[in-house]
Amino acid sequence: MTCIWILMSTLLIGGMIPNRVHAKEKVMNNATATLRHEHEAILRMLDAAEAAASGLNRGTRVSPETLSGLLEFFKLFADKCHHGKEEDALFPLLVKKGMPAQEGPIAVMLHEHTLGRSLIREMSEAADAYPRDAAAGRKWAEAASGYARLLRSHIEKENHVLFVMAERMLSDAEQLELAEVFEKIEVEKMGAGTHERLHALMEKILRETKQEAGV
Ligand SMILES: [Fe+2]
Ligand SMILES: [Fe+2]
Repeated sequence: MTCIWILMSTLLIGGMIPNRVHAKEKVMNNATATLRHEHEAILRMLDAAEAAASGLNRGTRVSPETLSGLLEFFKLFADKCHHGKEEDALFPLLVKKGMPAQEGPIAVMLHEHTLGRSLIREMSEAADAYPRDAAAGRKWAEAASGYARLLRSHIEKENHVLFVMAERMLSDAEQLELAEVFEKIEVEKMGAGTHERLHALMEKILRETKQEAGV
């Protein structure tokens, strides 16, 4: 339930979901709805990463904790948990139902996940050197801006192409079954207690990046 819990909290912070219980039930019963809502949480954190990047490019000091917190969110929530659900459960099911694995949307999505991991590594190396090395802040900003561009375009393609195809291919029962598999993946990949920590981390980062951007 980790990712769901975080994404619902994110959307509530953003004022996007007036009825938490109703929305949560709807999301939890439908695998692609779960992934679409997780995209909303990721997009909000990409906004925060871009705000931090623009601060660094202007020469403003951004706290090292903000950079490492953003990285932890992207590594754990966006990549390990969200991309893990796509790679370990959704894509194999779509291939089983006849979608090609080596070409078309799945191949493109897998390639973009790999590119994202490489940009996360660049951000991670830059964050380790920041703030001792003055150039590291700009390197972090460059990698974070690239990551935000990549993931925004990736999410757009999933929301408007791949998930639309998946929603045509999967029955309600398959969507429910897949949503249950997602919950198991969360427990396996994230472990107990991670959701509370990531939730607190996410709220802190959204608050800090607003403050650091002077909003
Ligand atoms: Fe993806
Ligand atoms: Fe996705």
